[in-house]
Amino acid sequence: MKQDMIVILDLGSDENPRLAREIRALGVYSEIHPHDITAEELAALPNVKGVILNGGPNRIVDGVEIDVAKDIYNAPVPVLLADHKGDKPWPVDAEARKEALSNFVFGICGAQANWNMENFIADQVDLIRQQVGDKKVLLALSGGVDSSVVAALLIKAVGKQLTCVHVNHGLLRKGEPEEVVRVFRDEMDANLIYVDAVDRFLDKLAGVADPESKRKIIGAEFIRVFEEEARKLDGIAFLGQGTIYPDIIESGTKTVKAVKSHHNVGGLPEDLDFELVEPLKMLFKDEVRACGKALGLPDSMVYRQPFPGPGLGVRCLGAITRDRLEAVRESDAILREEFAANGLEGKVWQYFTAVPDLKSVGVRDGKRADEWPCILRAVNTVDAMTATVEDVPFALLQKITARITSEVKGINRVLYDLTPKPTGTIEWE
Ligand code: XMP
Repeated sequence: MKQDMIVILDLGSDENPRLAREIRALGVYSEIHPHDITAEELAALPNVKGVILNGGPNRIVDGVEIDVAKDIYNAPVPVLLADHKGDKPWPVDAEARKEALSNFVFGICGAQANWNMENFIADQVDLIRQQVGDKKVLLALSGGVDSSVVAALLIKAVGKQLTCVHVNHGLLRKGEPEEVVRVFRDEMDANLIYVDAVDRFLDKLAGVADPESKRKIIGAEFIRVFEEEARKLDGIAFLGQGTIYPDIIESGTKTVKAVKSHHNVGGLPEDLDFELVEPLKMLFKDEVRACGKALGLPDSMVYRQPFPGPGLGVRCLGAITRDRLEAVRESDAILREEFAANGLEGKVWQYFTAVPDLKSVGVRDGKRADEWPCILRAVNTVDAMTATVEDVPFALLQKITARITSEVKGINRVLYDLTPKPTGTIEWE
């Protein structure tokens, strides 16, 4: 292994992810582990140079005093008790913390600043090869950041032992299925099964107006299609997954212990019992992007804005029809094109269009015409819990309006949603 590591033992502090990031910012790899890790488990982790027990007050989890394994204190590496209280309180100020951490990590533990994407990728390639051996791996490749980066990493590690399945459910943005095929099949020479399931999904969704029912149908149908593809393949032992660190650090008191490395995968039947390969599970989102970039994925995949699992399905409001879904897809493509051309791509957190199931009267080619309105939404947020509206220049809004009303079939008005979250949510349904 190429990287040194500092282990943080989780004593229930919700600050641990921040601490891990602070150590990684020093160029040293850091992982959070449950407080009751045994000395043997700790010894089995590669290149551990130091251990930090962090939490205030230490050794108390959920109000109960715990006996942090005595042998951790006798660990063959330096141990830091990062108490907030007591006679040597842990600094709160960012600069002082950095100094204290540097002193511990480099001065006391003698760790090397060798955490970088090149080393991470090299280590993961070794680990994946060790885990997988000569067996086969299956991956659901949506084209989102996480699944794309996992795919690229698995291709580098095991090449054609990986089979990617890309399910086109008809609710992807314009050009996305084509880009997945171009990048992975044409450029990376991956085994890629492209499943055109558009009719299947749209038939199932016909007439369904309730947003939660739509989400359930899309989720369940996705598992069914994927399962059918998995059954057609012989000898798959592993399932690649784009789990990332924030997925497993759900809260300060949930420790990494909650993650099992071998379990059946949510929604897939018991007899398809795959072992998981989750090489990104220790990365934060920005690190996942850096990893994708280092693996040669295009910026359009690595830096793309968040996109909901049910895709355009929750932006074609109410019961989905093919013509209105096309209006969502085409108007979204125009919005994205104009944002990119005007320096807003990468600046605005999320932006999209939604088309409601209602018509208003307008004039087209000198005649009255009942058509749909198209809603533009562009928001900024840190955690998606609250959001503010982007102050898009009025002239740009007018240009987008002119393009959408002239280029997209069935749209005669364009509206800009000025509502922050709350009271609006980011999506319309
Ligand atoms: P809301 O609309 O709740 O959205 O303010 C917050 C963020 O979550 C995304 N979102 C979803 N993501 N499946 C997803 O994977 C969903 O069903 C879903 N609904 C909303 C939304 O795009 C925004 O980024």
